[in-house]
Amino acid sequence: MNKTDILLLGSGGRESAIAWKLAQSERLGQLYIAPGNGGTQAYGTNVAISPLDFPAVAQFVIDNAIGMVIVGNEDPLVAGIYDYFKADDKLAAVPVIGPSKLGAQLEGSKDFAKCFMQRHGIPTARHLSVTKHNIADGYRFLESLKAPYVLKADGLAAGKGVLIIDNLDEAKTELQAMLDGMFGKSSATVVIEEFLSGIECSVFVLTDGTNYKILPVAKDYKRIGEGDTGLNTGGMGAVSPVSFADDAFMAKVEERIIVPTINGLKSENITYRGFIFLGLINVDNNPYVIEYNVRMGDPETEVVMPRIKSDLVELLHATAAGKLADVALEIDPRYAVTVMMVSAGYPGKYEKGKVIEGVDAASQGSILFHAGTSRGANGELLTNGGRVIAATSYGSTKQEALDKSFEAVAKVTFDGKYFRRDIGFDLK
Ligand code: AMP
Ligand code: GLY
Repeated sequence: MNKTDILLLGSGGRESAIAWKLAQSERLGQLYIAPGNGGTQAYGTNVAISPLDFPAVAQFVIDNAIGMVIVGNEDPLVAGIYDYFKADDKLAAVPVIGPSKLGAQLEGSKDFAKCFMQRHGIPTARHLSVTKHNIADGYRFLESLKAPYVLKADGLAAGKGVLIIDNLDEAKTELQAMLDGMFGKSSATVVIEEFLSGIECSVFVLTDGTNYKILPVAKDYKRIGEGDTGLNTGGMGAVSPVSFADDAFMAKVEERIIVPTINGLKSENITYRGFIFLGLINVDNNPYVIEYNVRMGDPETEVVMPRIKSDLVELLHATAAGKLADVALEIDPRYAVTVMMVSAGYPGKYEKGKVIEGVDAASQGSILFHAGTSRGANGELLTNGGRVIAATSYGSTKQEALDKSFEAVAKVTFDGKYFRRDIGFDLK
């Protein structure tokens, strides 16, 4: 069997879960993770290269005869890493898992995504895109909506560019402030949206541009506090499957959203060979798109990868070759739940460099996916971020999986460890 040497770009819990899954494949040769974290060394070799330093990434790929590049996070995709490879004779034959620069605009520009959905009849909240030049139209559109008001920075804003505001006057003031640069260039255009009320879930699709596979559905928990209260974080936990995303709901998702998205990309000649993340909201059993992302979700990947039984290297080769129809996707029917341990103070100010202990003991019945960890001078494990380490467990029920994750969390110690005890509270 041909083995492939793979370079995975990223350093979070998502990349840990992808690396963990790749490492199980007989088709994997060497795995490199750039830059990786304190846990990814268990699956491959960390390489101190920034995913945004394209010349350095390219040189590494050439020097090490890498046979596939998997892009974990959105920034390199939005910056055009796919096109960078395709434009270089020495790199053009190396599969890059992820969309072209234009395809990445589905995440890189909310205005682009909304217009794409409009062109292809994909259900989403009504919207108006506003710049300084038509702010008066923006005020009128806000007046036509009912509270609360949703304002979104058009560009990437590290997950912070969305404001949901109860009061009309305040919404107008914030619209002005966003256009004046509250999120820098990202909010030079603001998308105003109608507020949709419902429960959210994350649907992941792997596509080769024509064929697609629907991966396990997950739900993430973004707020720092129990009961979904307090500030937004990068994600405090996730559950898969999602009880309300049953066959009837998923049939609507496929027919109304996935098929028109893939067909839309194709009809507009947008090259897309990679993961599509549909952030959906269920409004009276009808799915609407809240956002597209052009990568896997974090911490959703920490429950999605464990539920994929098929060989990920084979799936990704088929993706790159336009042959996804030829491979089967097998899913583990069990529940997977992940609980993220975070640093005291996160998502505000927090300290790094706290010694982490108990990971080996916690790994007996669970999978520990490192996110913000690093290794000290003597190899000791240290905290190196807000979100530190996630404990994923399987169970025949959600509760069983959750209980196992809490057992694992209890075994891990570091100064200031915090986690949510109510992951999955709003699901059956
Ligand atoms: P986004 O970055 O577009 O996913 O928005 C961040 C979060 O804001 C989403 O996960 C939703 O919880 C919420 N949100 C965004 N758009 C809407 C909307 N139109 N209606 C209700 N909630 C929304
Ligand atoms: N968990 C949401 C995201 O990855 O954007």
